[in-house]
Amino acid sequence: MHRTGVLTRGNFLHSDDRVIPAFRTITDEVKDAGAVIIQQLYHVGAHGDSDLSFAPHWSPSGGPSYHDSDGSHAMTGAEVEELLEAHVAAAVRAKAAGFQGVEVWAAYHSLLDQFWTPWSNQRTDQWGGALEGRTRFSRELIERVRRACGEEFIVGLAVSYSEAYEVTLGAEALCEILDLHDRTGHVDYVTVGAGSYLEFESIIPAFTHGEKLTTPLTAQLKGALRHAVVTSEAGVRTPENGEAIIASGLADLVSIVRGQIADPHLARKVAEGRSSDIRGCISCNQMCWGRRSRDYWISCLINPSAGREFEWGGDRFSPAAAPKDVLVIGAGPAGLEAARVAAERGHRVEIVEASGVVGGQLRLAGMQPRRGQILELMDWYERQLDQLGVTLRLNTFLEAEEVAGDGVPAGRDRVPALGASGGIPAGDRGGGRLVARSCAAPRGSAGRRGGGLRRGRQLARGRDGLGAGGAGEEGDHRHAGAVRG
Ligand SMILES: Cc1cc2nc3c(=O)[nH]c(=O)nc-3n(C[C@H](O)[C@H](O)[C@H](O)COP(=O)(O)O)c2cc1C
Ligand code: SF4
Repeated sequence: MHRTGVLTRGNFLHSDDRVIPAFRTITDEVKDAGAVIIQQLYHVGAHGDSDLSFAPHWSPSGGPSYHDSDGSHAMTGAEVEELLEAHVAAAVRAKAAGFQGVEVWAAYHSLLDQFWTPWSNQRTDQWGGALEGRTRFSRELIERVRRACGEEFIVGLAVSYSEAYEVTLGAEALCEILDLHDRTGHVDYVTVGAGSYLEFESIIPAFTHGEKLTTPLTAQLKGALRHAVVTSEAGVRTPENGEAIIASGLADLVSIVRGQIADPHLARKVAEGRSSDIRGCISCNQMCWGRRSRDYWISCLINPSAGREFEWGGDRFSPAAAPKDVLVIGAGPAGLEAARVAAERGHRVEIVEASGVVGGQLRLAGMQPRRGQILELMDWYERQLDQLGVTLRLNTFLEAEEVAGDGVPAGRDRVPALGASGGIPAGDRGGGRLVARSCAAPRGSAGRRGGGLRRGRQLARGRDGLGAGGAGEEGDHRHAGAVRG
């Protein structure tokens, strides 16, 4: 939005018209698909990353940045005015690019929140002091955006609540501030997230944090606001949680972010009455936020197609030209996903697992306290494989002679073979060997019995595809690629 407010690489700088045609290609498609698309106007104030912006971070009073040790620059009056106009110009560009609205971003101790919060706004001019002064920037900004973009344009306001942190605003203060903004009638919705840059772990709450984190505040806001509708974010995760929040009047709308990374078809499946087909996010933060925070494109631990949509179709499947018999060896996470994808494409799939349950070592992870979402994922795979007609053979060791030669067992046409995680690559090298050595292996895992590992090692020889996690450096990690192609 402005050169002084860059937090992560890949944020779009809305400071000239070049963004308009680029975004138009996205907005047209989204609207053609029947959805509404709104752009967030994002300035992090003090919390920038100067490695990316090569500029001082502008903030109300020059407070510290959570991100680096550079601190920030206390804006002059002229600079405050420059940032106001930058927001308005960005909103006008968003409209020209086809967005149906903008979300003014005052969440997580961002620039606007820094103005609102007495700790970070110690100004003595018209932009600081009492509530009226501290909210002047955001009220002025929203007023100008409304004037510039018209009555039909949606204007939202994103806020967040960081209960645990002393210097951030409490629920009462937030209600008072939002009431002030709501009275103008310019704000169409308020969306409430959790945490702040000063308490980062609640922003994208992992399994450690529980679910539905913001409903106490959204319920309060519902009582306080007359015009704007209220959205609950953070840990809504499932449509069932969303329904419960809306049905009990705790919010008017819900937001599900990671849930739609884990299953991009979540909304459609709900609309089609197929909620049980939704692959539920396991709140691990490993591949979505874990990658984003290091400036990589995002993916998902349980949806490998996330971030590879052009290559793998976004978890959409085209029928294979020539369906084959596919034998998947090992029902750990990689084997389960490979079996599912192959069956979705119309291959005839059999999955063989040495232990009595699916899931491999991921199931062991699911047995830890608060990791039940992983076990729900195992149930989902079982349901999907069942619906897709995949033959699942548990408690079954395959001997090398059962999967002969280059992966073509007797009586079958063509079988890309896939390795189990307990398998040891030929030559006793790599991660599989480590598994074998430290084999205080979990009950029910493929590695529990030495025989399973020995057999895994035999199977690893001469395969044209060996792909599951734990396979060593000789393994070919194209696990899903072997059946997607
Ligand atoms: C990869 C990723 C990027 C995010 N980027 C933003 C962002 O740009 N602005 C924002 O307000 N929230 C952002 N969030 C936070 C989400 O909007 C949301 O509040 C958070 O993920 C909790 O909701 P969930 O439990 O439905 O995932 C991001 C979250 C993730 C996982
Ligand atoms: S990586 Fe996937 S499963 Fe894990 S939190 Fe992110 S979206 Fe959810």
